[in-house]
Amino acid sequence: MIEVNNISKNFGPTQAVKNVSFNVNKGEVVGFLGPNGAGKSTTMRILTCYLPADAGTAKIAGFDVATQSLEVRKRIGYLPENNPLYMEMGVLESLYYIAALRDIPHAARKEKIRKAVDLCGLEPILSKDIGELSKGFRQRLGLAQALIHDPDIMILDEPTIGLDPNQIIEIRNLIKSIGREKTVILSSHILPEVSATCDRVLIINRGEIVGSGTPEELAAMATGGQAVNASIRGPLSQIQEKIQSLAGAREISVTGEDNGITRLTIKTDPGTDLCEEIFFLVSRNSWSLSELYRETITLEDVFRELTREG
Ligand SMILES: Nc1ncnc2c1ncn2[C@@H]1O[C@H](COP(=O)(O)OP(=O)(O)OP(=O)(O)O)[C@@H](O)[C@H]1O
Ligand SMILES: [Mg+2]
Repeated sequence: MIEVNNISKNFGPTQAVKNVSFNVNKGEVVGFLGPNGAGKSTTMRILTCYLPADAGTAKIAGFDVATQSLEVRKRIGYLPENNPLYMEMGVLESLYYIAALRDIPHAARKEKIRKAVDLCGLEPILSKDIGELSKGFRQRLGLAQALIHDPDIMILDEPTIGLDPNQIIEIRNLIKSIGREKTVILSSHILPEVSATCDRVLIINRGEIVGSGTPEELAAMATGGQAVNASIRGPLSQIQEKIQSLAGAREISVTGEDNGITRLTIKTDPGTDLCEEIFFLVSRNSWSLSELYRETITLEDVFRELTREG
């Protein structure tokens, strides 16, 4: 569905995108993960025909972004970075406006708008002006505008940035439901964000793809699994032995000792969370627990691993 071959883009001396190649299959939800300035937005702008690449080719549904941009634009829904909207416009009015821009025939507009409104949950705010909307609803409206012409491909640049945790969950769920029907590329600089929504992640750093895989594969790359930290008061050798026998526990290391409380780091198999088992183990043995948490894998961990020298 998307084929990118060796695209590069420079802004003066800045190499924003360097020789990037990747493919996205029909129906996949793929995340671009990278820090500020990595080249995520630039790559998306090239794919959506907003910027020409200096070198390389990109095809969307078989059409070249440089030479067949009209065909490409018809098949793409794009939510740009910062979701630019006309603040003075009414919500419904803006949808009719976009439907007209998208050349949706008059007779079909109402129905297409109805579908987008239903999918994005815009019913409660249809009569408002865009300027009155909360950020979460603005983002939903941005998504509705991007998918009003029922494109096969959605390109979403940081769709959850600036939202509160509840709004983030709503938008994630919306993206997941969009992803059931469409091919989606979204960008983020937050690992849990892409893990929650994407089938596959491309890690981009300084204009280059430095790693790719499923969210689980990347997390495993970062830590060789995951880890739980526990501080327990009790007989150390017994504690070690019993934790070791839990399914999914890999290696246990003692990382500290303070007043009879031992701090342990337990590496686990990817996707295994031993917190609950450890809690019950401690409780059954009448030890005491003063700390128990799962180590969250940060983007920095992944980067350190993927961009390590030598
Ligand atoms: N129009 C432009 N003119 C000059 N430099 C640009 C322009 N657009 C992007 N750049 C530079 O290209 C590099 C990549 O920028 P890009 O916006 O693609 O990164 P990004 O991964 O989207 O970052 P962010 O997470 O901050 O949105 C940066 O160094 C940026 O400063
Ligand atoms: Mg960006």
